[in-house]
Formats: sequence, C-alpha cells, structure tokens
Amino acid sequence: MGKKAIVTSALPYANGEIHLGHIASTYLPADVTNRYLKLTGMESYYVCASDDFGTPILIQSEQEGKTPAEYVAHWNKRALDDFSSFNIGFDYFYRTSSEENISFVQDVFKKLNDAGHIYEREIIQFYCDNDKKFLPDRYVKGSCPHCNAEDQYSDLCENCGRVPDEIVDPKCAICGKPPTRKKTNHYFFKLKNFGDSLSRWLDENQHLQKDVKKYVQNWIRSGLVDWDITRDISWGVPIPLDAANGKVLYGWFDNHLAYISATLKFLNDKGIDGKKFWNTADIYHFIGKDIVYHHYLFLPAMRLGIGSEYKLPDFIPTRGHLTLQAKKISKSRNWYIGLKEFLQYYPADYLRYHLVSINPYSQDDLNFDWDDFATRINSELIGNLGNFVNRALEFTKKEFDGKVPEYESFDEKDAEAEQKIRSLAADVGDLMKQNHLDRALKKIMEFSSHFNQYFQHKEPWKNGPGTANCVYLSVNAVRSISIAILPFMPESANKIWMQLGLDKKISAKWNDMSVLGMSANHALGYTSPLFSKVKSKDIENHKKRLGTIRTR
Ligand code: 2FM
Ligand code: ZN
Repeated sequence: MGKKAIVTSALPYANGEIHLGHIASTYLPADVTNRYLKLTGMESYYVCASDDFGTPILIQSEQEGKTPAEYVAHWNKRALDDFSSFNIGFDYFYRTSSEENISFVQDVFKKLNDAGHIYEREIIQFYCDNDKKFLPDRYVKGSCPHCNAEDQYSDLCENCGRVPDEIVDPKCAICGKPPTRKKTNHYFFKLKNFGDSLSRWLDENQHLQKDVKKYVQNWIRSGLVDWDITRDISWGVPIPLDAANGKVLYGWFDNHLAYISATLKFLNDKGIDGKKFWNTADIYHFIGKDIVYHHYLFLPAMRLGIGSEYKLPDFIPTRGHLTLQAKKISKSRNWYIGLKEFLQYYPADYLRYHLVSINPYSQDDLNFDWDDFATRINSELIGNLGNFVNRALEFTKKEFDGKVPEYESFDEKDAEAEQKIRSLAADVGDLMKQNHLDRALKKIMEFSSHFNQYFQHKEPWKNGPGTANCVYLSVNAVRSISIAILPFMPESANKIWMQLGLDKKISAKWNDMSVLGMSANHALGYTSPLFSKVKSKDIENHKKRLGTIRTR
C-alpha cells in the first residue's frame, strides 16, 4: 500500500432511486475501504459521479416532459441525498455531463483517434420514419430471440439476461410502429489492438481477483471484438469531429472517464496537482460483476491507448449481486427496497453491519433476508457488541464513580485480554488490506465476544481481587472497538467514543486501537444503550410490503 489512494465505485445512473442492490456490491465496500485507508493515515479520497448520458435516460426524460439535463439534475441530487443519509462519505460527487468530463472525454477520443485506435464504418441501424430518429439500444422493443419473452429492449432481455443479436418483431419504443433500417456511419474503438497488452497487465497486477482474471483472460484468448462507440442520439458527449455531424459517444465511452475527470476537478480545485496525485496513488474501482467486461477490458484498453497518461487501476474489487428474499431484484415488479425507505425504519449502521457481514470478497451472489437481518442485529450487533460496551461502561459508572480504575499486576486471563488488544489493529488490518471486509468485521465481533466472556469469567460484581484489572481492560477494549468499527459503523463508533468521555468525533488513528489509551482516573461520558432491538412484528410488515407499490 502506498500513501495515497483514489477510491471510486460504479457510477449510478441518474435514472431512479438507489436501492439495497446498489449499495451492497459497490458503494458500501468502497466507503468502508476509504474510511479505513483514511484512518491508517493515507491521503485517500472517494470520488463518484452520476452517470448521466445514454438512451434510457433520454427516453425517460422525454416521457416525463423534462429536458434530459433537468431530469439528471433531479436524480443526481436525490442519489447524493440518499447516499449521505447512509453515511456514504464521498469526498466528491460530480456528474458525467459536467463540462469538465465532456472536454476530458473529447480529448481522450482525439488522442485515441490520432493514435489509430478508432475507425469509421457504415452500419445498418433501426430507424423510425414516424419519429425521424435512429433507434439504438432501448429505443427498440420486441421479443427475445433466445427465450421468446415479449416486450424486451433490444440491448438486454430482462427475462433471460442475454443480449439479443437481433430482436424479433421490433417496434419503436416511442410510437410503437415497426422501424425501418437505415445506413449510418459509426466510430469503433479497436479493442482488438489491445489483447496482448491487456493480458500482460492482467498477469502483472497481483491485486486483481484471481477468478475474475481467469475468465477475462479466456475472453481475450477467444478474441476481442471492436466496440461501437457511437450513438445517433442528442444526449451524450458530442464526437469531436466535423464529419461526426451531431453524433454522440456511447455512454460507456464517457462514464468511466469521469473517475479521472471528477478526481482532477476535485483535486485541482483544492490546489493539488490532480494528475500527479492520480499517477502516484493506489487506484480502486469497486464494481458489481455485471460490469467486469467494461472495467477489465474497455477501461484499461482506453487508458493504454492514450499511452498510460493516467495510471491503470490497482484494485477492481468485484462482488456479486444482491437478491431479496432469494429472488432477483426487479424495479418493475417492485421487488426491491429503496435505501431511503429502509432508513425510515432502521439506523444506517444496522444495514451497514448486516450488508458487510453477508458480503464476501467474491463474485458469489448474496441474499438479503428480513429474518436473517433481525437475527444478526439482535443477536450479534446488540447481543454481543452492544451488550459488552454497555455492561463495561455501566459497571464503571456504578462501581467506580465513572472513572477508569488503577490496574494492578495482571493474571493470566488479564494478560491474554491485553494481548488481544495489542494485536487487534494488525489482525483486523491484515484482512482489510486484502479486501476481506466481512472477515475483518467478524474479527472485531470475536474480539467483543472474547471480552464478554472475560467479563463474565472475572465476575467483577463480586468485587473480588482483580476487579479493577477487569474494568480497566474492558474499558480499554471498548475504546479499541470504537476505533475498529469506525469504517463500518461510523455513527456508533463516534457514539461510543463520546460515552468514553473522549471527543465528539474519533481523532485516533487505526493503530491506536492496540494501545491501552484509557488511563486511570479518566472520567467516562454519558452512557446509554447503543442500539434497540429489531421487532419481529415489524419484520413481518416489511415482508408483506415487498412487491407492493410504495411511495418513493
Ligand atoms: O452499470 C451501471 O450502473 C453504470 N452506470 C456503471 C458505470 S461505471 C463507469 F462509470 F465506469
Ligand atoms: Zn417511433
């Protein structure tokens, strides 16, 4: 690990509300990582943006009678509001339709073109004579040639998940009339040129997930296909060539470049040389497994194509999809839980705890289950961690007038407990460095559980010899817990810090959790239970509401 990092996560489309499926695979792991890196003393920034361009957004804005710019401004703000209530701590949240991104993207296009990585070719495209429009992607609906599902978009069948080569019985998505076919000139990116260099980069980068690398290498071996980067629509980055005559770039050409352009804008505005920072930082792109192709091939190839002027990613943590009560999430069937809605019922930290716990560093899908959520919160978060923090602090209040007692010589159990504190930063840190956030959180819970047992074993309420040691070490363990959980559950971490009679916000660094920082005579603050139980009656209601139409 270096001293600087840029953390990004897949840019959310400015086209609807953020739901649990979005945050589980990308935004939460990215946020936890960024908070961890900052806590270790690294200069780390989490940069994100709304993904504003593309056909679906244009169609939707037209249907709502808004300009696309108005439409995306609404969803950009809403996404940022929702993320903020969940304590996703972006250092910067921008948009792909910003002036800065547009000119950055056009500059990259020109450089790729000058380097011979772009060519023009005539293609046949659906055209609607009624609407006088070319009909790319979502502008055409029809039946899927693979599974026969009706009413599917030409760029993706939502029923079988495949991309139809040619949709059956095509209809214009705006007016419903059958389209004609018309010639148009498109620009293509020569992805084929990059097979060898991509393969070398994959071999050399030791941080990328092995299983993902393996199948990306297979794609390369079986031959890459050049990429059509043109759209005959009005909403996108204009192709900077006179001959392109109003055509725009495909959304997947411009969106990932906003990782860089937003970082440059943010850092340059702060008076930091953004380009130099980018090129000397560890670069993280957190994604879900559906966009591996774009991030392991297209994105690095474009960076290679401009002479690696901007560093390629070091980490592309790729995680699986979230299902809900074991069923695929679907906005159209109302089978999803909006983040805003969830946070009306439970604190952000409950969801952060739960989603990290069930989310391994792998591409396996994970499942949100309401009963499992209640069990984990009640028995783990409250029964273990909340219980230990509360009993240690309350006992100190009651029996030691709220002051940390002076310790005496340690017995074997005390020495073991001290050792647990001393090794916590390294034990948890090792897992964090390897992106195993779930295992790191589990380690913290094991630490808490160990101290629960230690407290129970010592029976300080009997006030026998060793009571002061037990209380001294337990209060210190509470301090360690508050630092350790800061990346995972920032609100609870700071609450504990206050109850310890320290500051409003944690000022310590990661390794401080392994120091016995609560000295004798230090006075604790106001203490109260950290969490309240999840009720089974409420869980039953949440289950009933799934799949029904709800206000957003
Ligand atoms: O799949 C998506 O939701 C896209 N909006 C992700 C874009 S990530 C990119 F910018 F690289
Ligand atoms: Zn039409």
